[in-house]
Amino acid sequence: MAAPQTAMVQPAPRGMRGHVRPPGDKAISHRYALLAALADGRSDIRGYSTGGDCASTVRCLRALGVTIEETGRDTSGLQLSITGRGLGGLQPPTGLLDAGNSGSTMRMLAGILSAHPFATTMTGDDSLQRRPMRRVIVPLERMGARIGSQDGRPPLSIQGTASIQPIEFSPEVPSAQVKTAVLLAGLHANGTTTVHEPLATRDHTERALHAFGVRVEASGRSVSVKGGQRLTARALEVPGDVSSAAFWMVAAASLPGSEIVIESVGVNPTRTGIIDVLRRMGADVQVSGDERQAGEPIGSIRVRHGHLGTAVIEPADVPGVIDELPVLGALATHGGELRVTGAQELRVKESDRISALADGLRRMGADIDELPDGFHVRGHQRLRGGEVDARNDHRLAMAFAVAALGASGPTVIHDAGAAAVSYPEFFSVLESLRA
Ligand code: S3P
Repeated sequence: MAAPQTAMVQPAPRGMRGHVRPPGDKAISHRYALLAALADGRSDIRGYSTGGDCASTVRCLRALGVTIEETGRDTSGLQLSITGRGLGGLQPPTGLLDAGNSGSTMRMLAGILSAHPFATTMTGDDSLQRRPMRRVIVPLERMGARIGSQDGRPPLSIQGTASIQPIEFSPEVPSAQVKTAVLLAGLHANGTTTVHEPLATRDHTERALHAFGVRVEASGRSVSVKGGQRLTARALEVPGDVSSAAFWMVAAASLPGSEIVIESVGVNPTRTGIIDVLRRMGADVQVSGDERQAGEPIGSIRVRHGHLGTAVIEPADVPGVIDELPVLGALATHGGELRVTGAQELRVKESDRISALADGLRRMGADIDELPDGFHVRGHQRLRGGEVDARNDHRLAMAFAVAALGASGPTVIHDAGAAAVSYPEFFSVLESLRA
């Protein structure tokens, strides 16, 4: 069910309790669809994210000649059957490619399109058109593509080449999307492409490539792929999204009387920084299970309320919690204190998440300082609720909702419908978890 554009969230004085199966992981869904499109044969994917961003990836791939059938849907997400076109086998589209709100679609697909000998133009919504693309344009041009942009922002006009060159690249910003774009271009090159990251980022691409039969060498913060390796289609299940689970983890941690169990969720250590932060703040978090699907660890996470203390998130911690920082800001409004630095990347996400978070939480009564590269929340006073603007940013809409649960009065969230970008069922699940 799509979330309404404006949502009213009432406090949860008795806390939140229950079991949840979060939607299929957004980051992994994108990668499975992109790699299935490049593979030889038909891949069947279960648990594909129902969010708008992953629908953007499917839409763009279809426009590039990939046959994608939706064969079913269950509580874990969509079932897709993707007939790969083989490495370098995408077809020129007849019109613009629309990546919607999805930076992942645009940046990762830019890597693949750079290695195809035709011209494409990729655009997106107002938010995406403001996002920085130079971080992928620079390495992909070094590899031989020509990419036009509006001063480093979309639309991107990509003239790809069949003779893409391998490179060794050290991105300035730690970004899994940039790493992925370069590796996926390099997969089509004659030679080995290496990315040296300034800080380790999520490694879903490396694990997914391996699952499709591609050899990837990783050592420390460097990862290499030799071009020309063919991908073998396969059946895949997408784990539940830990970034969506994060909202329930924080709700349970911060509201007295709460206990929530999140099942079948991805617990890849490059994504679970939130568990460490919750524990440091004083929450009771238990992780169990040792299942693996296509190299991705899956588990179950039980979170109980605990008295909240103080935590500091340092620059080196940021990549492991990058998408969870808004909801961690919400966490600290329920008590305790949280200081985040080194997170200037938040300013170029779907919105300027530092200023939008500070503005929204302050309107609800929070004591929050905006820092150039982060924020500082002191949770010594209870929120009163209020009227906030999610600025069409899914993670802000959901973070404000979690903050609202601990307030003394109701909160109206404008642009709450943005939650559908990653978690269309979010507001109905929220209601179902009230104790
Ligand atoms: C993502 C990487 C992160 C994250 C985004 C998804 C990915 O972005 O914020 O939501 O799937 O690789 P950056 O690569 O820009 O840090």
